[in-house]
Amino acid sequence: MSKLTVGLVGCGPRQRAHISALRQIPEVEVASCADIDPVRLQAFGETHGIPAAHRYTGIEAMLAGERLDIANVVTPAGVRLGPVKALAAGRVPVIVVEKPMAVDLEEADQMLRVCTDAGSRLIVNHQYRFLPFALRIKEAVDSGALGSIEYLRATCMNKLHGQGTHMIDLANFLHGDVPLQWVMGMVAGTETFDSKLPGPDRDAAVFAYQDNVRLYLECGRQVPRTDAEAKQHLYIEVVGTRGRAWGGIDAGYRIVTADGGTVEERLRWADGDRTAETALYREAVAGLQRGGPWLHRSRGELGRRTLEAMVGVLQSAMEHRMLTFPLSVPPGYMAQVKRGLLATPAGNG
Ligand SMILES: NC(=O)c1ccc[n+]([C@@H]2O[C@H](COP(=O)([O-])OP(=O)(O)OC[C@H]3O[C@@H](n4cnc5c(N)ncnc54)[C@H](O)[C@@H]3O)[C@@H](O)[C@H]2O)c1
Repeated sequence: MSKLTVGLVGCGPRQRAHISALRQIPEVEVASCADIDPVRLQAFGETHGIPAAHRYTGIEAMLAGERLDIANVVTPAGVRLGPVKALAAGRVPVIVVEKPMAVDLEEADQMLRVCTDAGSRLIVNHQYRFLPFALRIKEAVDSGALGSIEYLRATCMNKLHGQGTHMIDLANFLHGDVPLQWVMGMVAGTETFDSKLPGPDRDAAVFAYQDNVRLYLECGRQVPRTDAEAKQHLYIEVVGTRGRAWGGIDAGYRIVTADGGTVEERLRWADGDRTAETALYREAVAGLQRGGPWLHRSRGELGRRTLEAMVGVLQSAMEHRMLTFPLSVPPGYMAQVKRGLLATPAGNG
C-alpha cells in the first residue's frame, strides 16, 4: 500500500515535535514543508532531509506541487485561519492545527465551516488526550473506581493561552467531554499579552459542566509548585465519591480508591508527550485508511469547545459576571480584552 503523504506548514521550533512524531509512523511519509520565511524553510528542510524541490514559501505552491493526505498548521495562533482555508480549498483530507485552535472564536467557527464544506477533517493538537498518564486516569474514571466525579482541578504555570488550553481540554477529556454549562473567570496582567501566545499573564476560573461537576482552573507563574517544577508545572486531579486520581509533569500519576487500592507510576512527561503526538496522528492515519465515518478524539469541534471555554474566562472577567454557554461574544474579542486590561491599572497586576 502506498504511504500517506504529509505536508508541514510552519517551520518554527514547534514543527520539530510534529516531524519527529510523524516519522514514528511507518504508513506516512513527510513529503514537503512550507514557511513564508525562506530562511527558516531552508534550514528546516536541510535539518530534516526534505528535498529542496519539496520546500515551498506558500501553501498554494505546495498544493500545486504535492498530493497531500494530511497537512499540519504549526503557525502562530493568530495565523491559522488563512492556512486552513487554503488547505481546505485544496481538499486536503486531514488538517491538524496547533493549539489553541485560534485566538478568536469566529476564526475557529470559520475553520470548522470551510473544512466541513470541503470534506476535510479538522483536528486540534491537544495531544494531552493521548498522554499515557491521562489514559490511566481516564480508565479509572470510566471503570467507576472513583465513584461519581465531584470535581476536577487543574493548574499550570504557563498562562491560559499557553498550556491552560491543554488543561481545560484534558479535563474535558477525563470528564467524557460533557459540555460546559457556565464559567466564572478572572484574568490579570499584560506583560506577555503580545507574545507568541496572545492573552493575559494569569488566569483563574470555575467552570460547571452540564452535570454540575466543577472544574477549578489556575494558570500563570503564581501557581504553587515544587523545586523540581521550577521550569514547568502541569497538574490535574479528579476527585470522586470513592476515590481520587492525580498526575503531573514528571510525577507520573497516582490513583487511590475506596477499596484501599493505590496505583502509582512514575512516567516522564517528555517521553509521554512524544508518544502522545504520534498517537494523535496515528488515530488520523487509521481513520483515513479505514475510510467511512470516524471521529477523532481531538476533533475540531472539541477544540472549538475548549477555545469557547477560554474565551468564556476572558469575557466573564471583563464583564464581571457568570456566563452560560454558548457564549455570545463580539468578533475580535481578544483585542477588546487587551484594551480593557490596559485601561485598568489592576489589569497589569
Ligand atoms: N501542542 C503543544 O504542546 C505546543 C507546544 C508549543 C507550541 N505550540 C503551538 O505551536 C505554535 C507554533 O510554535 P512555534 O514556536 O513554532 O512558533 P513560531 O512563531 O516560532 O513559528 C511559526 C512559523 O510559522 C511560519 N508562518 C507564519 N505564517 C505562515 C503562513 N501563512 N504560511 C506558512 N508559514 C507561516 C513563521 O514564519 C514561523 O516560522 C504556537 O503558536 C503554539 O500555539 C503547541
